[in-house]
Amino acid sequence: MNRNFIFVLISLVTLFSIVNAITQFKECVEFPSAELLTVKLTPDPIKPGEQEFEVSVKLNYTITPATIINFDVVDQVNPKLLASYFMDLCSQTDCPVNPGTTFSTTHKFTLPAKLPSKYFIRVYHYLVTPGVLGPFSCAIAIVGS
Ligand SMILES: *[C@@H]1O[C@H](CO)[C@@H](O)[C@H](O)[C@H]1NC(C)=O
Repeated sequence: MNRNFIFVLISLVTLFSIVNAITQFKECVEFPSAELLTVKLTPDPIKPGEQEFEVSVKLNYTITPATIINFDVVDQVNPKLLASYFMDLCSQTDCPVNPGTTFSTTHKFTLPAKLPSKYFIRVYHYLVTPGVLGPFSCAIAIVGS
């Protein structure tokens, strides 16, 4: 085979696997003052069934008891909660966790057997207390088209 052809083929295969492999998490526009969480999925791309999320952030806030991590999976076309999960972060970690620390946790929960063609996953850290206006940190991925 022609060398250039092989090169183009390899590039296409690489590009295709990158495009397919990575669910992109971005800032939540609705919470402009929230830090961006880094979220890694296993498997990626997402499949129905058990899904693992590794969530990390360089803290610019303190994790204290009643700081919750929350996941919402929502149908993008007919807004409806498809799955949700939350956990008090201090149930896994010695608290407080101070600003400046890179804080990482791993969570598993089950996604519905049938997922709609387009949905989003939003992850955030927030403090469960009256008067809090928004989450400390957030990330959102829109999946599908
Ligand atoms: C953390 O940093 C973000 C910007 O990345 C900022 O908007 C936010 O107010 C900071 N949070 C705290 C608690 O200082």
